Amino acid sequence: KYAKMVVDKDFRIAEIDKRMYGSFIEHLGRAVYEGIYQPDHPSADKDGFRKDVMELVKELNVPIIRYPGGNFVSNYYWEDGVGPVDERPKRLELAWRSLETNEVGLNEFAKWSKLVGSDMMMAVNLGTRGVGDACNLLEYCNHEAGTKYSDLRIKHGYKEPHKIKTWCLGNEMDGPWQVGSKTPAEYGRIAYEAAKAMKLIDPDIELVSCGSSSTSMKTFPEWEATTLEHTYEHVDYVSLHQYFGNADGDTPNFLAKSMETEHFIKTVISTCDYVKAKKRGKKNINLSFDEWNVWYHSHQADDNTMKREPWQKAPALLEDIYNFEDALVVGLMLITFMKHADRVKMACLAQLVNVIAPIMTQVDGPAWKQTIYYPYLHASKYGRGIALQPVLYSTKHDTKEYTDVFDVDSVAVYNEEAEEVTIFAVNRDLADSIEFTCDIRSFEGYGLIEHIVLTNDDLLASNSAIKQAVAPVTVNDTFLDNGIIKTNLRKASWNVIRLG
Ligand code: AHR
Repeated sequence: KYAKMVVDKDFRIAEIDKRMYGSFIEHLGRAVYEGIYQPDHPSADKDGFRKDVMELVKELNVPIIRYPGGNFVSNYYWEDGVGPVDERPKRLELAWRSLETNEVGLNEFAKWSKLVGSDMMMAVNLGTRGVGDACNLLEYCNHEAGTKYSDLRIKHGYKEPHKIKTWCLGNEMDGPWQVGSKTPAEYGRIAYEAAKAMKLIDPDIELVSCGSSSTSMKTFPEWEATTLEHTYEHVDYVSLHQYFGNADGDTPNFLAKSMETEHFIKTVISTCDYVKAKKRGKKNINLSFDEWNVWYHSHQADDNTMKREPWQKAPALLEDIYNFEDALVVGLMLITFMKHADRVKMACLAQLVNVIAPIMTQVDGPAWKQTIYYPYLHASKYGRGIALQPVLYSTKHDTKEYTDVFDVDSVAVYNEEAEEVTIFAVNRDLADSIEFTCDIRSFEGYGLIEHIVLTNDDLLASNSAIKQAVAPVTVNDTFLDNGIIKTNLRKASWNVIRLG
C-alpha cells in the first residue's frame, strides 16, 4: 500500500476563506449556560464569561461563530434577550424542550465574540416569525442610531452597532422537526422577501439561504433548486449540514464517509450553477457548510432527557464524548472542505462548547479538549492560505457502502505570506502504516519544519477533564530530500507535515 502526491505552487484551487474554520454556539444544553457563561465559576470574568473556555477558543482562532441556532432560532424572540437582565422573561424553548432564561442574549454574545476574536454569523427566525422581525433585528444590530431599534440598542448600553456581516435566513426549514418548517415554495418566498428587505436596510450584509438539512432528506436537492430560484437575486450562499455517526461500529465505513461530503458539495455546486444558468445570472452562489461534525454518541440519552425531564435550564444535551476515530473523520471532512475552497467559503464545526463540541466544561472544574479539538486546531492554525490541487494517487479499498476509497486522503495549503506549505493527510488504514511520498518540486529551498501526528492504538480512546489520552505528537521519521518528502503515515492517523 502506498500513496503519492505532487503539490505545486501553480496548482491553485483558491485562497481559503478563513471563515472555513468557523464554529457554532446555539442556545442548547450547556453551550451557553455553564459553557461560555457561568458567573459562579472561579474563572469567570466580570461579565460571567468563563476565562478558561475563552482561552481554548482563542487557541483555536475561530474566525466566525454562528448564533443563536440551530433549531433554537426557529422560535426565538430576540427581544427577550436584550435590555435589563432582571426584566428578561423565561421562555419554553421548544426545539430542545428546555427552559431559556435569556440571561445571555445577542449583546452579551457580541461582547463575548469580541473577547475571543470572532465575528458573529447571526441567524433570523423564519419559523414562527417573518420579514418584519428579521428587519427589526438587523436594524437593532447594524444601524448606527436615530431609529426605533438602533436607539433601543443604544439605550441598552451598546452605542456602537455590532455590524454583523453574515446572516442566515432561518435554519433547516425543510425539516419536519423544525418549529415552523416550510415547503420549498413557502421557504423560497419568505426568504426572498426577508433577503430583499434586509439588504435595503444594510446592503453590506451577506445572506445565507437555507439548504437541505441533510442529503437524506427526500427533497434534496430539489429543495436547493426551488428555493434558490426564489432567493438567487438577493442571497450569497446556500447552507449545507452534515453529521456522521458510527452506530454499528464499522470503522472502515465510518472513515469513508467523507466521500459523502465530497458528493454533497459537488451536488450543491451543480444545483447552484443550474439556478445561475436558468436565471442568466452572473454571480455564483457559494457554499456555507454551517453545520458539520460527528454526532451520534448522545442520541439516546438526549431523547430520554427531552421526553422525561423537559423544561430544565441548561440540561446536559448532545454531550458526545468523542473518541479517536471521530477525530479522523473530522480531519477528513476538513481536508474535503479545503479541496473545495473555490466554492466552500464558510464552514462551522457544530458546535463549540459542551454541545457536540471540541471544548467541554465541568461545572466545578476545568474546561478540557476533546479528541476532535486537534484536527480542528491544526486546520485553523496551518490551513490558511491557498489550497493547492492535490495530484494524489493512493491505493484503495472498499467498505460496506463505498467503493474505491483512497487509503490516504490529503491536501496541501500554501501560505504565501509566511512562506510555508502544510500537507494534511489521513491514513484510513487501520492495520498498516502507508508509505507516503510527496513531490514538492516547486518549493525550492523549503525545509521540513515538523510532522505532527495524531494517532492511537485504541480507536475508541477518548479524553476527559483529567486525561488527554488522545493528543498530537511530533515525529522524527519524515525526510525531505531533493524536493521529495518521504514518510510512513502511521496506521489510522491524522498528519500535519509543515514545510517552510
Ligand atoms: O447542531 C445541532 C442541531 O443540528 C441544530 O440545532 C440543527 O440545526 C441541526 O439539526
